[in-house]
Amino acid sequence: ADARITIDRDFTIADVPRRLFGSFVEHMGRCVYTGIYEPGHPQADERGFRRDVLELVREMGPTVIRYPGGNFVSGYRWEDGVGPVGDRPRRIDGAWHTIETNAFGLHEFVDWAREADVEIMEAINLGTRGVEEARALVEYSNHPGGTYWSDMRRRNGAEDPFGIKLWCLGNELDGPWQIGHKTAAEYGRLAQETAKAMKLVDDSIELVAVGSSNRGMPTFGTWEHTVLTHAYDEVDYISMHAYYRELDGDAESFLAEAVEMDAFIDGVIATIDAVKAAGKHTKQVNISFDEWNVWDFDRYNNEEEAAIAAAGWREHPRLIEDTYNVTDAVVVGTFLNSLLRHGDRVHIANQAQLVNVIAPIRSEQGGAAWRQTSFWPFERMARLARGRVLQLAVSASQIATKQYGDVDSVDAAATFDEETGRVVLFVANRSLESANDLTVDLRGFDGLRVVGAETLTIPEGGDRFTSNLETTPDAVHMVPLSAAEVVDGSVRATLPALSWSVIELA
Ligand code: AHR
Repeated sequence: ADARITIDRDFTIADVPRRLFGSFVEHMGRCVYTGIYEPGHPQADERGFRRDVLELVREMGPTVIRYPGGNFVSGYRWEDGVGPVGDRPRRIDGAWHTIETNAFGLHEFVDWAREADVEIMEAINLGTRGVEEARALVEYSNHPGGTYWSDMRRRNGAEDPFGIKLWCLGNELDGPWQIGHKTAAEYGRLAQETAKAMKLVDDSIELVAVGSSNRGMPTFGTWEHTVLTHAYDEVDYISMHAYYRELDGDAESFLAEAVEMDAFIDGVIATIDAVKAAGKHTKQVNISFDEWNVWDFDRYNNEEEAAIAAAGWREHPRLIEDTYNVTDAVVVGTFLNSLLRHGDRVHIANQAQLVNVIAPIRSEQGGAAWRQTSFWPFERMARLARGRVLQLAVSASQIATKQYGDVDSVDAAATFDEETGRVVLFVANRSLESANDLTVDLRGFDGLRVVGAETLTIPEGGDRFTSNLETTPDAVHMVPLSAAEVVDGSVRATLPALSWSVIELA
């Protein structure tokens, strides 16, 4: 197999949106409790934050983290999570059939986010609650003081406002499973009025309206159209969510899911712009892809959900702790490529979730923390994608798939940082059997050399199902990509079968 990619210094599409490298912490399973927070763990600090997990989070480098849900937020009372811990109520979380102790809440998350050096993206409850609770939360978080809610924050130990800029107007309210599920018209009006009231408290905030929970929703397209027809003026982004999994061993289609992701994004862009045109708006609404990942949700729907209910009400049960293999990591790399390729319109994206729950980082209660295979593409891209997103012209041999017909054997994205002169290519080889001879023509760049080349692929003695289990936590990671070089103004490299590679040029 082979592929030729052409890049041109003058053909760029956007500044790299640094918020593309976001993640998500939900009060779900063991993401918070025994994930980022576990008082009594040997590695916990005096606030109960696990230092081992924090270290891995800092290494992975997320820029923004969505909190506290997810489905959880649609039944959540944020006031339960502030004030003296001993006074906080134990509640039933219907979304995940769990007892929520509220030992961890807003102040704890703000402190943790400072330690992790990430921006906060706060989701409000528009399932069971509305305008009043939302504007109270903005006042509590962002008003300096001298008012009811801001003084309560100060009494609770935070003199300075939290200054939270980014807010989600609810979660997946298009989904019948969501507590407080709504029609598009009901939600559109509620989002509009809530957004207005929140901005009247703090006009510097940015707001994300709920879009479709996935492209297969029967209301996909009409939902976005109706919601934005109501709320276009008041919101800044519309959300997208999508989870993908390998079905019935069909690895070829699974490896092509970024084609589906590209089409989903293009569909949402078209819908936003149709509303913009019809409404004669000048402002541009963009996309927050605030939940995406590989997730075997059939296992949750067919087995786990019933098992959790049968086990009765418990605190932080083990939930959707998927173990990721080489194939999953390559697919995650292609999703990051897709998001970057759409950097002109997708300005925020959050891999769901950060720890334990379909996560790149895992931890055991009282035990170790480790990286999953999917950690690596995220870490490399979050660190290396800088400057401008380059436009790519790709011509590649094709792979036949059951779901998506013939697709390119490679999936790529690239950035160019004018300040450092650095070009970085991120390229997956989707073929399960053959290496790919890649040529990248560099137009308008003089004297570039390969200064780094690495790949994530099947390790020696492993296969495409190899994962980083606790016993062999480093089985899959980035390894040198040999023989990548610039010859006559073109990069030449051989991409191993089933791989995601990074080639740095300077
Ligand atoms: O990330 C897991 C769940 O997936 C979230 O709670 C929900 O928003 C989505 O359906």
